[in-house]
Amino acid sequence: MQLQLRLFEAQTAPLVGAKAARSGTFVDNMALPVHRWFRYSAGFAAQWVEQVLTEMGIGEGAVVLDPFVGSGTVPIVCDTLGIESVGVEAHPLVARICKAKLLWATSAERLSDFAAEVLGNARGRNQRMSSYPLLIQRSFDEDVLAVLDGLKESWLLVDDKSPESELVWLALTAILRATSKAGTAQWQYILPKKTKRNVVPPSFAFRQQVEIMKSDIRWMHYRAKQSLARIIAGDARTVSDSISQRVDAVITSPPYANNYDYADALRFEMTFWGDVNGWGDIHDAVRRYLIVSSSQHSSRERLRVEELLETEAVKPIRDELATVVRTLAAVREDHGGKKHYHTMIAAYCRDIGSVLHQLRRVCKPGARMCWVIGDSAPYGAYCPIDKWVGEMALAAGFDQYRFEKLRDRNTKWKNRKHRVPLKEGLLWIEG
Ligand SMILES: C[S@@+](CC[C@H](N)C(=O)[O-])C[C@H]1O[C@@H](n2cnc3c(N)ncnc32)[C@H](O)[C@@H]1O
Repeated sequence: MQLQLRLFEAQTAPLVGAKAARSGTFVDNMALPVHRWFRYSAGFAAQWVEQVLTEMGIGEGAVVLDPFVGSGTVPIVCDTLGIESVGVEAHPLVARICKAKLLWATSAERLSDFAAEVLGNARGRNQRMSSYPLLIQRSFDEDVLAVLDGLKESWLLVDDKSPESELVWLALTAILRATSKAGTAQWQYILPKKTKRNVVPPSFAFRQQVEIMKSDIRWMHYRAKQSLARIIAGDARTVSDSISQRVDAVITSPPYANNYDYADALRFEMTFWGDVNGWGDIHDAVRRYLIVSSSQHSSRERLRVEELLETEAVKPIRDELATVVRTLAAVREDHGGKKHYHTMIAAYCRDIGSVLHQLRRVCKPGARMCWVIGDSAPYGAYCPIDKWVGEMALAAGFDQYRFEKLRDRNTKWKNRKHRVPLKEGLLWIEG
């Protein structure tokens, strides 16, 4: 991303007249109530979302949708402004984190009591560290893992599916990186072989996380009584029947083609909770639910180019896409890795096209959309994603689009696989 997204001063007003007047990454959100409850590198900046909403003229009474809602930046901003919102997220763990953040209407006292019970019961438990997969054993000192395991087992004993229980689950999930000695690579891939110095003691980290959450809950309660957000743990490609057809605005950022493997981002947390045992489980547990944006995904699914190019969703860009796909199919024969970029890019366009058709069904006439988006050049074959998404949006029934470039990507070429300059920006769609 997205994660590096820099929103510079926009020189010109796009369709809606909004100016992207500040920089934004999820790092900015780590100073903001509720947003900071979980660090999700893929996220964009909350203050930028608020600015776009204001300049779109979206306020109380409107409905805002984020079909790739991630950790919930858009709905949390909407809650602080009293705006109804819907979010869709296909990654099961990310969706759960997002839903938990939107439980901020829970009383701080109930959260406090529940967390105290979990902490109290955690002491003196018999830990079974060897039952954890190697990734977890290697990422923590033994005594740290013993405490975390105690907290986890204690939580499992008292989990009653209440909002406060879910918030305590989130608190424990959120401290795993800070209490681990393993390094984290760019993006959120965990590096067990690279150790870091600053490791926070787990009981302290847990107490501190709960205190932060209590304080943010109280802050939110000054602004609103209940959340107006609905989070759907589902697939943006097929979700329209679950959303009422009165969406006024969409603010979103999909995975970029060939940028990061979203399915792998929270493998560390999923392994701790026993959702997966290793990298090999990630496809079935997560990746198959996401839009195709990585070659790992397309190679696992053995997709067929001709079928992908025949889908209705890619019709408006079929000729251009077919040229790139055929180039990639030929070029891969000269590369050792023989990556499945040809099917990845065709499936990516098919999936984004499907999402646009779903959005047309739920958006009111005249709705406005802002997509944070980036282009791609696997094996150096340029894919003008912004233009393709715009064209597919018109074919889906929207009236106009305009791309506003915000920054260059891939301009530092040391160790890069290709030298095709890339860009990132805002795709404004209306109609
Ligand atoms: C760039 S991130 C969005 C981050 C979000 N803006 C935030 O602030 O947290 C894109 C998200 O799309 C999700 N995603 C991928 N395929 C999806 C699908 N088919 N339906 C819904 N969400 C999907 C990914 O799991 C990822 O969390």
